[in-house]
Amino acid sequence: MSDPSEMTSQALAAIGQAQSNTELERIELEYLGRKSGKVSAMLSNIGRLAPAEKAALGKAANEAKRAIEGALVARRAELEQARLADLAETEAVDITFPGPPLDRGHVHVLTQVRRQIETVLESLGYQVELGPEVETEWYNFEALNLTAGHPARESWDSFYFSPELLLRAHTSPVQIRAMQRLKEPPIYIITPGRVYRRDPAEATRLPYFSQVEGLAVDKGLTVGDMKGTLLYMIQSLYGRERKVRVRPSYFPFTEPSFEFDVSCGICGGIGCKSCRHKGWLEVGGCGMVHPQVLRNGGIDPTRWNGYAWGFGIERMAMLKHDVDDIRLFYEPDLRFIEQF
Ligand code: DAH
Repeated sequence: MSDPSEMTSQALAAIGQAQSNTELERIELEYLGRKSGKVSAMLSNIGRLAPAEKAALGKAANEAKRAIEGALVARRAELEQARLADLAETEAVDITFPGPPLDRGHVHVLTQVRRQIETVLESLGYQVELGPEVETEWYNFEALNLTAGHPARESWDSFYFSPELLLRAHTSPVQIRAMQRLKEPPIYIITPGRVYRRDPAEATRLPYFSQVEGLAVDKGLTVGDMKGTLLYMIQSLYGRERKVRVRPSYFPFTEPSFEFDVSCGICGGIGCKSCRHKGWLEVGGCGMVHPQVLRNGGIDPTRWNGYAWGFGIERMAMLKHDVDDIRLFYEPDLRFIEQF
């Protein structure tokens, strides 16, 4: 390599194309290396040249060296700039930038319906009482006039820990507990909670579900008072156009006893697929509290009387939101849960 200007332009071209500092180091060594670099090699036999040629070659070598050094500095700066620009685009973290909003959950539809029922009845002066889910045989059956061997016990078959201890099959035992605790009527309570039955899971029933029980004990209460209260509750929850009706039925803890129906919200009572062409949907049972039940709660049935009801909360939620499978309430499927 004897022509300094050709060597310089080759070096500058290589530097211009270099994509990394490692490449630039290699090029620097190739041209400017002290022992074997091309600029040094150019000067290797300078001793044999005439003085004028010596000076010219020395000058050319110096210029080549400075040009290459300058190009190296410039290219290194360019590569660093590009690296920073790339970083800014792909990896910059702006800690002042607001994060994505967190997904907020909401209260489950069954809890919503339970709270609505509580709110409506609290506005009528009812107070919320809670009772244990593990209940004694006495509270679950005996005190509610379902004596041992009573055939109606079969309708409330549950899960037993021992002959005396079981998972409560309804919220009715809290009626007794409330009367014992409050002692002196007037008593107006509702008691929501989980109950258990020995039933297989199906579209309309589960071995666990929730009820809301109501109990009023006062002087001279009538079926009319009970029906008016339940009508008010239903219309507050479902709308003024709903009608209610009671049908004679049997429960050992009430006399008389009724099934309680609400007019179908889809067809308005005419009859459609969702009410199985009846026009009415069954919500639960109710009736006038049996004197023996009052006595078992420590209340004198010659001075006081009462009415009571027990409704299924899932059933009420199904009615409100047209849900046709009770199991959906207990499945962790967000597509269902997020609708409410
Ligand atoms: N405990 C009954 C059940 O689980 C429902 C019920 C009926 C409750 C009549 C009451 C009532 O308080 O008066 O099927």
